[in-house]
Amino acid sequence: FSFDAENVHHLVINLLKFAKPLLLLRSRFYSFNSSDKKRLNTKVFGINFPNPIGLAAGFDKNAEVFDQMSSLGFGFIEIGTVTPVGQNGNPKKRLFRLVDDNAIINRLGFNNLGVDNAIKNLKENKNIIIGGNIGKNKTTSNVDAKNDYLDCFTKLYPYVDYFAVNVSSPNTPKLRQLQETDELKKILIPLISENLKRKSKPILLKISPDLTDESIEKIVDMCLKIKIDGIISANTTISRINLKSDDVLKNEVGGLSGSPINKRSNDIITLIKTKSNGKLPVIGVGGIMKPQDAIEKLNAGADLIQLYTGFIYNGPSFVYKIQREILKTVN
Ligand code: FNR
Repeated sequence: FSFDAENVHHLVINLLKFAKPLLLLRSRFYSFNSSDKKRLNTKVFGINFPNPIGLAAGFDKNAEVFDQMSSLGFGFIEIGTVTPVGQNGNPKKRLFRLVDDNAIINRLGFNNLGVDNAIKNLKENKNIIIGGNIGKNKTTSNVDAKNDYLDCFTKLYPYVDYFAVNVSSPNTPKLRQLQETDELKKILIPLISENLKRKSKPILLKISPDLTDESIEKIVDMCLKIKIDGIISANTTISRINLKSDDVLKNEVGGLSGSPINKRSNDIITLIKTKSNGKLPVIGVGGIMKPQDAIEKLNAGADLIQLYTGFIYNGPSFVYKIQREILKTVN
């Protein structure tokens, strides 16, 4: 934690690439017996997940280490956000650890090598469940955004198991305006039509924790009406309330993740479940920093969970510890 956060991230990705055989071996030790494995199986939107714990988008942006992350126990990996064309993202420094708050602020801005590069890597995938998190390029206007989403969708379709439509990152200017239901329909309906031409794959919408309850209820109604398969709650927040970190750090521009968003994320999950009468599957994400947080998210109504910041703070054995905690609660 004494080194620059983004350099450490790149170092970790490179180490993971190098350590593939070692991790495969490690996964044999950090494993459960077959009856426990069965108890962790979770079926949601027609997909059989080995366990309900996923790696949230943003860690494996270019689909480089999904295999290794699966060896660490994740039941599914959401790659991306990918955009049609590779882009650098915002100027550095753009990733900050708020250790006193168990949190991270990032303003990366969809730095990624583009959808075609991700596909090259995904072709190596044997049997890991992959979510494709898709976004728009910074230079694409909101009016043309639907073309970027459709482009990523059609290209990624053969290589992923579900899609996450990301309209909720605070780090691409005006992106979050696309969460208004009329704007959302312009993006989602073309994806749904394209999906219907094929063996349909689940399409989920990833939303911001900064939306009002009223906006979320409207989104839930829309999702049920146009048959979106689920919601991912939630992305990072621009709110900075109740933080302990010093003013300079906490006022860095960007999206805040980790502990401070846990409660809001859980409240939104419960809101979606209530408003949809349990009909809309939810992937709960935001602030899982200890195993008990994962249980609370599932109790709030999440069908599956994801994490990013908790993995950074707790290290590689964290997923295994969450699995153990879940096993205490299921028959
Ligand atoms: C993210 N997140 C994110 N989400 C997304 O949909 N696309 C992305 O590219 C990224 N990138 C990204 C980078 C970094 C450094 C962080 C910390 C987060 C958001 C992430 O997937 C998740 O929704 C939030 O971080 C909340 O979960 P945690 O981190 O509190 O477990």
